[in-house]
Amino acid sequence: MTAPKNAGEDARNGFAIDVRQGLSRSPRSLPPRYFYDALGSLLFEAICRLPWYPITRAESGLLDRFAGEMVSRVRGLDRLVELGCGSGDKVARLAAALPARKRSYEVHLVDVSAQALELSESALARLPSVTAVSHCATYEAGLRAAMEPLGEAGARGATLVLFLGSNIGNFDPAGARRLLAEIRATLRPGDGLLLGADLVRAEADLRVAYDDPLGVTAAFNKNVLLRMNAELGADFRLDAWDHRAIWNAEASRVEMHLVSRTSQRVRVPAAEIEVNFAAGETIWTESSYKYTPESIAALGREAGLEREAQWLDREAHFAMTLFVAK
Ligand code: AVJ
Repeated sequence: MTAPKNAGEDARNGFAIDVRQGLSRSPRSLPPRYFYDALGSLLFEAICRLPWYPITRAESGLLDRFAGEMVSRVRGLDRLVELGCGSGDKVARLAAALPARKRSYEVHLVDVSAQALELSESALARLPSVTAVSHCATYEAGLRAAMEPLGEAGARGATLVLFLGSNIGNFDPAGARRLLAEIRATLRPGDGLLLGADLVRAEADLRVAYDDPLGVTAAFNKNVLLRMNAELGADFRLDAWDHRAIWNAEASRVEMHLVSRTSQRVRVPAAEIEVNFAAGETIWTESSYKYTPESIAALGREAGLEREAQWLDREAHFAMTLFVAK
């Protein structure tokens, strides 16, 4: 393979490598971050407005009521870092709740979607006392870049890392612990982590949230096939695949799969693979783990973070938990 010439090519190689690995595995799987190209990001924004998907509204309601309290709980706060900023709507509302001052607040945006970063930057542009810095990167790489110690400016206030929208739900328990420990390692005493997580609720409600009657989530799921066709030269036939969402109670997660309707052979030239799918065979595309207020606190504790405060919406769909590093 030739050396990548630029970031775009780098990203494409990463996609090809992950597709090659994921589709060679048993069961076959793909990492959920590849949902979010320009179209996928827009489909996700549409999901957030569906009546069956309460996550975004619940979190948004908590920000309406408590954004001021959330930011004021971190003393001397002068920097926000959001992992997976999406539209930027949430970070903008937290930033708007910061007290007005002359020196600007630094807001770092981390997302794998350039489209999402653009949306977020324009959401923040309305706030005069904010300087936005974008990082088109994975959580881990973006976090490292955003938390790099500042040069001579030296003395600075506290940082609040935002990990919202139940993005934590995509990680299995070991992965979630690892990521929180990684975040913890970048924090100094007094810095905080604000974690938004979807809560366990009735199975029928969880199922319809991931298999909606309008078919938007099905489109979001199948978009990853379209993306492999467009970017890796694959020949997936979109009408040969079904969307499936199931609640796995034992593991406390909703799983999304793509199910092959027939036995079929698919070529993915840029990933240098050809795959034979049996009828009914699946590609596991996403897990969305659901928590309880206590299991979130426990997850933080295992990563060396103590729960400082927690806010729940009235229907107990969603919890926002503030951890402060000691
Ligand atoms: C962005 C990961 C929180 O798991 O609920 C929405 C993505 N997948 N519908 C979630 C998603 C299907 C979402 N997260």
